[in-house]
Amino acid sequence: MADRRRLIVVSNRGPVTYTRVEDGRVARRGGGGLVTALRSLVEHHDVTWIASAMSDEDRVVAAESGERAVEERSRDGSPFRLRLVAHEETAYDWFYNVVANPMLWFLQHYLWQLAYTPSVDIALRNAWAEGYARVNEGFAEAVVEELEEQPEAAVFFHDYHLYLAPRMVRERAPDALLAHFVHIPWPQTDYWHVLPDSIRRAIHEGVLANDVIGFHTHQWRLNFMRAASDVAGAEANFVDGVVDHGDRRSLVTVHPISVDPGEFDELAASEPVLAAERELVERRPEQLVLRVDRTDPSKNIVRGFRAFELYLEAHPERHRRVGMLAHLDPSRQDIPEYAEYLGAIQREARRVNDRFQQDGWLPIELVIQDNFTGSVAAYKQFDVLFVNAIFDGMNLVAKEAPIVNERDGVLILSENAGAHAELGEWALTVNPFDVAGQAQAIHEALTMANEERRRRLEAIRAHVREHDVTGWIEEQLADLDRSPARVGS
Ligand code: F6P
Repeated sequence: MADRRRLIVVSNRGPVTYTRVEDGRVARRGGGGLVTALRSLVEHHDVTWIASAMSDEDRVVAAESGERAVEERSRDGSPFRLRLVAHEETAYDWFYNVVANPMLWFLQHYLWQLAYTPSVDIALRNAWAEGYARVNEGFAEAVVEELEEQPEAAVFFHDYHLYLAPRMVRERAPDALLAHFVHIPWPQTDYWHVLPDSIRRAIHEGVLANDVIGFHTHQWRLNFMRAASDVAGAEANFVDGVVDHGDRRSLVTVHPISVDPGEFDELAASEPVLAAERELVERRPEQLVLRVDRTDPSKNIVRGFRAFELYLEAHPERHRRVGMLAHLDPSRQDIPEYAEYLGAIQREARRVNDRFQQDGWLPIELVIQDNFTGSVAAYKQFDVLFVNAIFDGMNLVAKEAPIVNERDGVLILSENAGAHAELGEWALTVNPFDVAGQAQAIHEALTMANEERRRRLEAIRAHVREHDVTGWIEEQLADLDRSPARVGS
């Protein structure tokens, strides 16, 4: 690990969230890949983490501390400072439930049906100004206050919730070292024209206020550099990977996020996972096709069930012997598009099950709950791991599950998932819209020779072990040192 540094990490979801229990308060680990990935940062550096107060108890903690940082400890006992920002509740609702998800999330995953949606009306403009911009101001204010106390700290913004904050900070702290990692795809420049000029420009100018801007794949990086020229009039130098805008230069980099393989080795051997695995082994079909996702439209779950239906239609000889297990974590249910998608998932699974179920065999087993232990148990047991995302920044399931799998399972992987850029050569590639192709891939995976299955799985494992999350973090810290702000341009 590199030298200890002072870092200010800024993300909407924090590393812990508080809940009130009868005899006090407990801190629970915040969910999501980003938070897990950043954990080792806390273990090796002096980190102040700024995040939104999300639960009622988070708000109490924020109020008690006068919205200053409190001392916290990570899972391994490493200390860090946590500063929770209690945004005004209506502003936060507009920020999270109207602008960030769905507007930006849908745009960046190409999910809008442009003949019908979205409509940029007064409500959206209001949510943008009074919600998204205001919450970003709250974050910027907190960052500036922290920088006053520790001016040498580098600031790490994360994701699509915080596109405006870097510029707001830059205006008040011109010499601060700012980096931003975007964890989701950056769409092609024309697609940004779904948003009015003022909004798309503010997004690009906001991000361009950073010294370093990181993406998971070359594709998203290229799209960003092109869009920065088109939308914000920036000058992109594709050879050096820098973008000039006004009097500033930003370094634009590619670092695919990864996982901590050691953590999954430990989890796989832990008693809760072993118990869940025993229970799964009791009821599992002869061959198991697994998917693990949030119930997000970008994950393409409904088409995945159709593909499985087509497979079953073409292979009656495999009925009662093959089953699909879908471990789905309910996500963003205050947003109508997400609530409707969950309904569509349930309807589709029911339709396929009604059509094929027989003698106690249920073709699709739907587990709709946040059940990480159960998911890791299923990771060990799959014969096929099915990832058919419409678009996905990375997809960490594709990296996590092969690490612990014990059945030489085959990865079926969408060509539009960021993970495909790294793992595609060892996976069966599918186009997310081609349900016939996905059905064919399921058949191919289930009938692949053992040796070939093992060869592919071992190659995926070796890649993930070599390119783990510690490497991801080190690369970004190294970027800070070679950023134009540090070396001059
Ligand atoms: O980058 C996408 C991401 O922020 C992931 O880190 C996380 O798994 C997911 O979205 C969860 O989103 P939310 O915070 O809305 O639950």
